[in-house]
Amino acid sequence: MAKTILVANWKNGPASLEEAKKILKGYGKKRELYKKLSFFIAPPSAYFESVSAAGRGYSKLAVQNLSLAKGVCTGEITPEIQKSFGAKIAILGHSERRSLGETDEEVSRKMRLALKSGLAPLVCVGEKARDAEGEYYEFLRNQIKASLTGLTKQAAASMLVAYEPVWAVGVDATGYLQPEELGQTARFIRKVLSDLFGRAIGEKIPVLYGGSVDDRNAGELLSAGGVQGLLVGRASLNPKSLEQIAQSLIRK
Ligand code: PGA
Repeated sequence: MAKTILVANWKNGPASLEEAKKILKGYGKKRELYKKLSFFIAPPSAYFESVSAAGRGYSKLAVQNLSLAKGVCTGEITPEIQKSFGAKIAILGHSERRSLGETDEEVSRKMRLALKSGLAPLVCVGEKARDAEGEYYEFLRNQIKASLTGLTKQAAASMLVAYEPVWAVGVDATGYLQPEELGQTARFIRKVLSDLFGRAIGEKIPVLYGGSVDDRNAGELLSAGGVQGLLVGRASLNPKSLEQIAQSLIRK
């Protein structure tokens, strides 16, 4: 059976390299635990070198974005540079990037760029709000379709999806999704993926959950939520919390 996936999304934290090293030291003490998972660390690019050196053997590097800039461009970083640090996956279409104006069309271009560059794309999707009538299902279907435009079946086989309801993500979160509701939504996402790429592939694409995951809800979200892993933001900056999350993923 495939290992459970855990992605530590550091976003634009921690505040200094010194702190980043402290976090890595904390993670490193539990390397045997993390080896039991498919564990990714997605740091700001300024910390790539430290993360890929300190995390060797128990984690893999993930990037938080890809640049669509063509040719020489001040201030941008290319997928080749990201790959040279050992990056394996690219988080794309995170709601915090979409809120800066990133469109589904750009996400779909980044998906194709990731695949061309040899990075497995991890596309984030999620509604801004839940309504009693279930309109958000339609929103999700459209967002998934638009973000995956132009992807072949073969390419789809190497991608991952993170379901991140926007209202549950980050410091402004109003709560987290109940595991049973996650189960329903994860099934729906799988159905949309199967409609797009055929059942054999749709059923195999790993679906992760992200949004206010912590050491109390992680285990249940995984077991009752029917997902293959978790994407953890804030709690991942605290090695103790991440360790407890990792523990609860292994017990399941
Ligand atoms: P959070 O973020 O765990 O801080 O809610 C999740 C994410 O942004 O991936």
